[in-house]
Amino acid sequence: MFSAWFDTFSPFFNNRAIISLFLFRIINPSALMLLQHDAFYTQHNLSMRNFVLNVSKSVIVDYISSPEVGFLRSISAPFASSKTKLVFRFMQQDNIEPSTNQSYGSLLRNLTFIKKFASGIIVPKSYIWPVDSSYYLLPSTSVVSDAHKVGLEVFASDFVNDAQLSFNYSYDPVAEYLNFIDNGDFSVDGVISDFPITPSEAIDCFAHLGRNASKQADLLIITKNGASGDYPGCTDLAYSKAIVDGADVIDCPVQMTKDGIPICLQSINLFDSTNVVQSSFSNLATTIPEIQAGTGIFTFTLTWSEIQTLKPSISSPQAKDYNLFRNPNLKNAGKFVTLSDFLATAKNAISLSGVLISIENAAYLAKEQGLSVTDAVLSALSKAGYDKLTTPKVMIQSSNSSVLKKVNIAGTYELVYRVDESIRDALNATVEDIKSFAHSVVVDMSSVFPTDINFITGSTDVVTKLQSFKLPVYVETFSNEFTSQPWDFFSDATVQINTFYMESGLNGVVTDFPKTSARYRRKLRPTVPFCSMD
Ligand SMILES: *[C@@H]1O[C@H](CO)[C@@H](O)[C@H](O)[C@H]1NC(C)=O
Ligand SMILES: *[C@@H]1O[C@H](CO)[C@@H](O)[C@H](O)[C@H]1NC(C)=O
Ligand SMILES: *[C@@H]1O[C@H](CO)[C@@H](O)[C@H](O)[C@H]1NC(C)=O
Ligand SMILES: *[C@@H]1O[C@H](CO)[C@@H](O)[C@H](O)[C@H]1NC(C)=O
Ligand SMILES: *[C@@H]1O[C@H](CO)[C@@H](O)[C@H](O)[C@H]1NC(C)=O
Ligand SMILES: *[C@@H]1O[C@H](CO)[C@@H](O)[C@H](O)[C@H]1NC(C)=O
Ligand SMILES: *[C@@H]1O[C@H](CO)[C@@H](O)[C@H](O)[C@H]1NC(C)=O
Repeated sequence: MFSAWFDTFSPFFNNRAIISLFLFRIINPSALMLLQHDAFYTQHNLSMRNFVLNVSKSVIVDYISSPEVGFLRSISAPFASSKTKLVFRFMQQDNIEPSTNQSYGSLLRNLTFIKKFASGIIVPKSYIWPVDSSYYLLPSTSVVSDAHKVGLEVFASDFVNDAQLSFNYSYDPVAEYLNFIDNGDFSVDGVISDFPITPSEAIDCFAHLGRNASKQADLLIITKNGASGDYPGCTDLAYSKAIVDGADVIDCPVQMTKDGIPICLQSINLFDSTNVVQSSFSNLATTIPEIQAGTGIFTFTLTWSEIQTLKPSISSPQAKDYNLFRNPNLKNAGKFVTLSDFLATAKNAISLSGVLISIENAAYLAKEQGLSVTDAVLSALSKAGYDKLTTPKVMIQSSNSSVLKKVNIAGTYELVYRVDESIRDALNATVEDIKSFAHSVVVDMSSVFPTDINFITGSTDVVTKLQSFKLPVYVETFSNEFTSQPWDFFSDATVQINTFYMESGLNGVVTDFPKTSARYRRKLRPTVPFCSMD
């Protein structure tokens, strides 16, 4: 007849509670909230008032909320001397509150009236941070401070991890909660969420954590095409954002232009990250089976100055199947960069510990196009002085061991072997072989936690095996969109990173959203189990 939702609050292996109330000041809250729709029951000749009064004789009810003024007023006298708090719940602004016949929007301008019978309000999150029609955040309203001024607590509702968030949050639900509780201006007193683990982390581990908080986790953060979750990959903007966001290593997937210039671009096929299809070069599409199935316009078909006439385009890996796009307002922003530009940017960024240059298709380029990408990379590195620097460290990555052997000059660079298929195990002989040409290894996520129909089915010992041969292991690719994660992680990228870090002991993450990993690494308050790194 009524629904009460307890906050179970055991963040890690918690079932997905339907609704849960979080109280910030309490580390282990166990509050009971009754959410009431009295008019509906009255139509069925049932008295919610009698029921609530009866229940409260045997159970401590912390909060009773209702979207009906009449109901809350009818119980305010009996509850006046109890600890139970009455909370008025706002529905959509244009809905009519049945007992006053006023819209919720007009009641919002009349908070002193609400205060007469309630000690708090529940408002949909858009009452506080409205979004525009394209899902970008507008400036916050004054609802929280207005309510606090008249002594009302404020609870924000409608938080869901597996739905489109405002683009300003970069698909990171923790960022959304932090915007409600740690924005430098105001904080709500509680939230109502379908995914209680996420506000629990936000509050206990990340709120009021300064950008300069010290690192708690020994975890290398390597970008995937820069901060390509926010900007077109491998552009000046993607790299500068990655540096600001706290990445340790920015990456340049090197591609060659027709005139032999090494540039950074996520793919050798310009279809994937530029508007070449809409350009005057669109008739240059060809099929090269040695590179990929299907057609493409390849970087070595155009000169650098021709490529510069194109626009970068953001890559949205979750758009095709799930319609989740990345930052549409800035989907063509930024400039393409050469490897030399990239090296110069990295050299000036004191927060970076390294650069990662990845080389693929070297054999094809040498044989069929007469372009030596390895020579081009080594020459750019030495021109930029990296052959004599110790920081930033240079990592050169390839899935082809011949490439790594070729660039192995005097042990100057960290050679990273990328395993380009999902593996379940690694034989000692195989690992010993890898050890003979590489210093570290990149594997994909399913080589650590295999999945089936988007659920994790177990774990491998690939990471520990490689580490036992003193090969650090980096795992790719950590993304924020909930559709990129197995359901086991509650649609929360931070839970995913935490699980990999705590369970597999990986050495680094490769991510297109470095900000989320960088915040994870700074999480505080080791007394809270979830936040502890032990
Ligand atoms: C409620 O009670 C009234 C009067 O006794 C009756 O006419 C009506 O059918 C009842 N409604 C329901 C849903 O039981
Ligand atoms: C009041 O609650 C008790 C259990 O706590 C129940 O046995 C009783 O039937 C209820 N009375 C009414 C009138 O609902
Ligand atoms: C506030 O709402 C109450 C109840 O509807 C109404 O009586 C009162 O006039 C309103 N006050 C203002 C300032 O709108
Ligand atoms: C509620 O307000 C509307 C418009 O302001 C009015 O037409 C309607 O009669 C009112 N209903 C009641 C029950 O007061
Ligand atoms: C959200 O992002 C848009 C586009 O980048 C920006 O114009 C806007 O100011 C941001 N909103 C807030 C509240 O920061
Ligand atoms: C790796 O590179 C070598 C030499 O550059 C080439 O002969 C070989 O075919 C490449 N292997 C693959 C799988 O591309
Ligand atoms: C594989 O190597 C590990 C670490 O060197 C060693 O402990 C283990 O016994 C080896 N396993 C086999 C089957 O040789």
